Amino acid sequence: MIDRLLLLGATGDLAGRFLLPALAELWAEGQLPESFEIIGAATQELSDAAFQRGACERLERHASDIAPAARQALLDRLRYQRIDLASNGIAEAIRTILGTAGEKEGRGAPVAAYLALPPHLFGPAVNALGSARLPPRSRIVIEKPFGEDLESAIALNRLLADVAGTAGESAIFRVDHVLGMATVHNLLGLRLANRVLEPIWNNTNIEQIEILWEETLALEGRAAYYDRAGALKDVMQSHMLQILSLVAMEPPASLSERDLRNHKVDVLRTVRPPEPGQIAQRTRRARYTAGRLASTGGADGNHVPDYAAEKGVDPARCTETFAEVVLELDNWRWAGTRFVLRTGKALHRRAKGVVVRFRPVPHLPFGGDVPPPDRNELRIGLDGPETLSLHLTGSAPGPPAALTPLALTAQLPAAELRGYSQVLLNVLTGDCTLSIRGDEAEEGWRIMTPVLDAWAENRVPLEEYPAGSSGPPQRGGRSREASKEAP
Ligand SMILES: NC(=O)c1ccc[n+]([C@@H]2O[C@H](COP(=O)([O-])OP(=O)(O)OC[C@H]3O[C@@H](n4cnc5c(N)ncnc54)[C@H](OP(=O)(O)O)[C@@H]3O)[C@@H](O)[C@H]2O)c1
Repeated sequence: MIDRLLLLGATGDLAGRFLLPALAELWAEGQLPESFEIIGAATQELSDAAFQRGACERLERHASDIAPAARQALLDRLRYQRIDLASNGIAEAIRTILGTAGEKEGRGAPVAAYLALPPHLFGPAVNALGSARLPPRSRIVIEKPFGEDLESAIALNRLLADVAGTAGESAIFRVDHVLGMATVHNLLGLRLANRVLEPIWNNTNIEQIEILWEETLALEGRAAYYDRAGALKDVMQSHMLQILSLVAMEPPASLSERDLRNHKVDVLRTVRPPEPGQIAQRTRRARYTAGRLASTGGADGNHVPDYAAEKGVDPARCTETFAEVVLELDNWRWAGTRFVLRTGKALHRRAKGVVVRFRPVPHLPFGGDVPPPDRNELRIGLDGPETLSLHLTGSAPGPPAALTPLALTAQLPAAELRGYSQVLLNVLTGDCTLSIRGDEAEEGWRIMTPVLDAWAENRVPLEEYPAGSSGPPQRGGRSREASKEAP
């Protein structure tokens, strides 16, 4: 296990909200070695003590469930170095940090270099790590989004491959924390360990699969990053395509990194993005206007200003805070089944999960005046609430034709580790199973590029929805069919 973490971007939101709490949790669970140390780096001029004080506040806010002794043990292992990745001579600065200054070849204990940085610094940072010649068996960890489009993702992958050298993909970890979530792993258990689901998991029986990532959170001061990304790049191109790949892939022989990642890439390759002539019907983009959030989520009951009026937002960029894309898969199992991906910020509810809607039965023997029953649905809640519910139809007391909806619901057991804890543990132990492979990242961009191009050229109107609502009204005034309730 690697026992040195170089955390580039250590003062940022990701580090404070997710990475340090995850490391504290790993410490509390006894998963980190006694020798473990973290070297935080960012542009601010800070002493070790000042960095530790800042980290302590973040842990109090975001990891209050973790025992104070474990939090303190983590703080004791933090050091800080100022570094500006936009300046010259960074490679030498990294060598100084790692204690390898002056050496021709990297030596010493391997390090995991985590790039918790704005995406435009990924290239300079990887270059610098390459020139600094990291010790053998070191790893580079990159956050999503991997590149800003297909071209930049390919360039970033080439650069990473050059720096990784003979270690190849085993030295590169492209992190999507969704793959660390226990509830997402449960998609595999559900699909692959039950006799009842896999035989009907196909286009013959399933009409539509919705993948939802609906948030009550608004911008929360993240304009510098979000206004340049938008909902499609921030969430859909990464998290939601990852969920799609697990839902739609063929059953692998094993969950080894090679089998699992091969099967995920195989199914992503079959995803057909909307044709140019269909983009206006198959995609939607919208931006929230002022409104009041519902009583769920982080900013309870808060008034939310117009997205366009938020500090740091350039309204002329027309950044979407809501995105919906309908995809089709060109393969035997899924041709003819619609995959609807929908995400949004500042919505009335938090709903992250999958809704599988089955086709109607071929014949109903109850006579013409009995209204057709609701479609059978399987709803898989992936994150708050983590539930599973199967919606069937039965007969109410009385004649058999008196149909009634039934719901079988289960609460999933609480996860043992946070998503980021699992991901970090895999990085430190060298297990690539939950890392996005380079070709997988490029497939994500291939699928979304026609949509991004059409939106950039204004071929799809930017709609609006009030914060706290369910999103822009359904086209033609229809109400949403499948996702009336959260999964
Ligand atoms: N935040 C999230 O919820 C989240 C979730 C998933 C993925 N991500 C990804 O994680 C990455 C970091 O996001 P974030 O939200 O943490 O961003 P952030 O809050 O803006 O933090 C960026 C970090 O990078 C440092 N930095 C900026 N310019 C630098 C430079 N020239 N040299 C060295 N360090 C520099 C900043 O330090 P100084 O302030 O000292 O300059 C800060 O520590 C992004 O790629 C983002 O897409 C974020």
